Amino acid sequence: MDVDVFVTQPIPQPGLDLLARAHPGFRINTEERVLEHSELLERVRGAAGILALLTDRVDAEVLDAAGPQLRIVANMAAGFDNIDLREASARGVMVTNTPGVLTDATADLAWALLFAVARRVPEAERFLRAGRFRCWGPLLFLGADVTGRTLGVVGAGRIGSAVARRARGFDMKVLYCNRSPRPGLETGLGVRKVPLEELLGEADFVSLHLPLTPETRHLIDARALALMKPTAFLVNTGRGPLVDEAALVEALAAGRLAGAALDVFEREPEVHPGLLARDDVVLTPHIGSATTSARARMAVMAAGNLVAGLRGERPPNLLGGETWEKKRPRE
Ligand code: DGY
Repeated sequence: MDVDVFVTQPIPQPGLDLLARAHPGFRINTEERVLEHSELLERVRGAAGILALLTDRVDAEVLDAAGPQLRIVANMAAGFDNIDLREASARGVMVTNTPGVLTDATADLAWALLFAVARRVPEAERFLRAGRFRCWGPLLFLGADVTGRTLGVVGAGRIGSAVARRARGFDMKVLYCNRSPRPGLETGLGVRKVPLEELLGEADFVSLHLPLTPETRHLIDARALALMKPTAFLVNTGRGPLVDEAALVEALAAGRLAGAALDVFEREPEVHPGLLARDDVVLTPHIGSATTSARARMAVMAAGNLVAGLRGERPPNLLGGETWEKKRPRE
């Protein structure tokens, strides 16, 4: 008999097709909404494989509710801060993610946001749609230059590096900070690795590309914001809790920062009311990877990981290799 597979929300069809070929009886929550934690506990019961999204908190309770036959949780996201890896590993449950396939889409959005906030695009559009555009004006919607300015990339993994590479097209100086040096990035592009404090003090645009961990939570707090230039902009397409939103609102209100462009939020889907109220802030609903092809590739990758894991193979995007050694045996 086929093993039980549960998908927590509808995902792009190519991923579902792949799943259906291997596990035709897979179960899915067909509603386009995040299941309440209590519902998730109920729905995962009996599953050997769970295809989860970044909005699903997969903690010890969920792993236990699924039962001892659970072998793999395949996250359809590059980030995996929604999954308790340690608890999964302790139970011999494999966890996978979807790196690489969303790099360009997310880097593109970081640039879209950077330009949007620098050139006040959403604010100007709101003005026009409100019927307030009477004539061209020499002082109308003056924004900040991008070309030739300094970009600071915090976290130079796949996405951060892709953001840095794009800066070449705008003759920008690029600073980055990362735990380990990225020699390829430096030699190829004249990009310089600097300590975070130096980056914050020099960059005209600071773009965040770090995973969310206990160490990176509130990396951009009041102290970090105070190091930034009052003419600088903050862009976040990583994870919301990297930024202390209350401190950001305060810095903006005090004129200690020129603006911010955020795709991710501390308490998603809630957005700090202080951010919603400001014209110097551009806000998008966590759409970094939201292109048709990136999402299709994420779905296929997540489904492929799940199918491989259930087949007894090592999933291509297994997190924490040691889980492979102690993975639960197939029934
Ligand atoms: C990810 O994959 O971690 C992104 O946040 C999804 O867009």
